[in-house]
Amino acid sequence: MHILFIGDIFGRPGRTIVKDRLPSLVKKYSVDLVIANGENAAAGFGITPPLAEELFEMGIDVLTSGNHIWDKREIIDFFQMANGNPHSPSRRLLRPANYPPDMPGWGVYEGVKGSNAYAVLNLQGRIFMTANDDPFRSADQLLKEVSAKIVIVDLHAEATSEKISMGWYLDGRVTAVIGTHTHVPTADERILPKGTAYITDVGMTGPFDGVIGVRKELVVGKFLNNMPVRFEAATGDVRLCAVVIDCDEDTGHARKIERLMVT
Ligand SMILES: [Fe+2]
Ligand SMILES: [Fe+2]
Repeated sequence: MHILFIGDIFGRPGRTIVKDRLPSLVKKYSVDLVIANGENAAAGFGITPPLAEELFEMGIDVLTSGNHIWDKREIIDFFQMANGNPHSPSRRLLRPANYPPDMPGWGVYEGVKGSNAYAVLNLQGRIFMTANDDPFRSADQLLKEVSAKIVIVDLHAEATSEKISMGWYLDGRVTAVIGTHTHVPTADERILPKGTAYITDVGMTGPFDGVIGVRKELVVGKFLNNMPVRFEAATGDVRLCAVVIDCDEDTGHARKIERLMVT
């Protein structure tokens, strides 16, 4: 099975490049399953229900997220629209699983593609981020409940050490541990010894002529004078960052991980 995981889709530039490039990537890599992090889809800050629907219509099967998930409040209503349907669009948008109990939404999705059952887990790190429950023990708990062999984990985290630790912790127990959140791709993709594909950060899908997606003048100015500023999405040098994972359907173990940066 070939899985395409697209890094944080940032604003209109990110959505547009996904729309333009996804069909050819699916064809070129014989992609069976498309997962993307959508936490920055709405001009960099959160995701709205229409934007989630738009991304699903482009061919994304499951959307993950992270710390920006609540930026657009209407996403709470979207989660409530799942209404017991385990495969509705509302159910295929995830927020990190290790948020406080009883928050809206879900951190795990189980689906079937072709004849293969798969699960997607979304977790958030704790280093230099808001205090959440332990993502390591949350992963243990979630994996007890998941029956699919093919399991993709989006670890939305800042610290490289925390992400690498999760890779080792879950090696052999999941198909892939993919880091998101920093918007900067790392060149450390590999297959760990027990069969888990790993990358510390898959990178951003959006405008690179800025600072992690935001107009560079605004962020540089913020560093210079520390005055409050309203961040706006950059527009230029748009790239799509992703990884393609090839895995064995029977064992769920990864055979290959390839890093992509498409312009
Ligand atoms: Fe992000
Ligand atoms: Fe983030």
